[in-house]
Amino acid sequence: KKITLIAGARPNFMKIAPIIHAIHEAQNQGADISYRLVHTGQHYDKKMSGSFFEQLEIPEPHVNLEAGGGTQAEQTGNIMVRFEQELIVNPADLVLVVGDVNSTMACSITAKKMNITVAHVEAGIRSGDLSMPEEINRMVTDAITDLFFTTSELANENLRQVGIPNARIHFVGNTMIDTLLKQRPNFKAPPIWTDLNLSKQNYIVLTLHRPANVDEASQLKAMLDEIITNTENLPLVFPVHPRTAKILEGLQVRDERLHMIEPLSYLEFNYLVENAKAVITDSGGITEEASIMNVPCLTLRDNTERPETISLGTNELVGTNPENIKPYLQRLFAGDWKTGSSIPMWDGKTAQRIVAVLTSEV
Ligand code: UD1
Repeated sequence: KKITLIAGARPNFMKIAPIIHAIHEAQNQGADISYRLVHTGQHYDKKMSGSFFEQLEIPEPHVNLEAGGGTQAEQTGNIMVRFEQELIVNPADLVLVVGDVNSTMACSITAKKMNITVAHVEAGIRSGDLSMPEEINRMVTDAITDLFFTTSELANENLRQVGIPNARIHFVGNTMIDTLLKQRPNFKAPPIWTDLNLSKQNYIVLTLHRPANVDEASQLKAMLDEIITNTENLPLVFPVHPRTAKILEGLQVRDERLHMIEPLSYLEFNYLVENAKAVITDSGGITEEASIMNVPCLTLRDNTERPETISLGTNELVGTNPENIKPYLQRLFAGDWKTGSSIPMWDGKTAQRIVAVLTSEV
């Protein structure tokens, strides 16, 4: 069985790493399974891509399609054109995509049109918000997926509701959490930890990159001002995504407590999250990681495709209106925050379950 694995953007790398390691284990036990790792090149900076391959022990991709940058359509189209050529030269029995980025959708469409079986890891989650490219990517990918690997019972339900038979839905858990649990002992302090003399629960981590929050300079400034005003005297550590960096260049947001730094590697970023008083973010994956590490998480979005991080985890949906931020931060500083409980199947063994299905069913 020849499987082509797709990784394109930062949040894909931690999801694909444990699957590769589980394939290696299966191979060592004599399973008939081989893989080809395709990097679409959607993320190309060392800080957004290379360091993750090193730290998470992901082997060098067999090919890099170098299809990063451009508009939504340019990027999606470039990935499709180049991935089609890749599949012509290196045919596969199955293409496995993870998550919800443009690479996920582009490669699943390309594969399916070549009559190749498509497996989607993190299938079935929905925010209902079609203004986000990720939601469109999820819907399109799931419309043509053959094998659905899911992270939650709600995802299973979403898929059943559109008529997907149970036999094609595999509730396996969360491969991002496989990586988190495996790497937790290896987390390491980034230079800013010593530079600022940070200590446990004495700072806040901030990440923002959603178009709805960062593409409009006034919205980004209003959010940052509100966060700065309501975080008492704590340092704010803000690893800035390239998309956000472009907007911030033209903005006069300066405060001695706001520390804007380059994107961090996986082990350094999660060290900061694990020890933070809280994380303020518009990411989806970080809400999952914060929940498992029992760190309060404030999500600056109006919706989430990961409601279990709210019902079972430490996440709260603050919204995108800057005025909403203050009451949540007041609760945080009053010590009035929920603790996380365990989330079904997020146990570090998800990738093994996926590979067991791939070797038995494909
Ligand atoms: C993408 C994903 C998003 C994910 C995020 C994590 C989609 C639709 N979105 O958003 O779901 O949460 O990655 O990072 O796929 N850029 C660089 N260097 C890089 C990568 C990007 O400078 O290594 C620049 C690009 O040229 C572009 C901007 O950053 O101008 C945005 O990159 P893009 O891949 O289009 O989407 P993200 O906003 O990163």
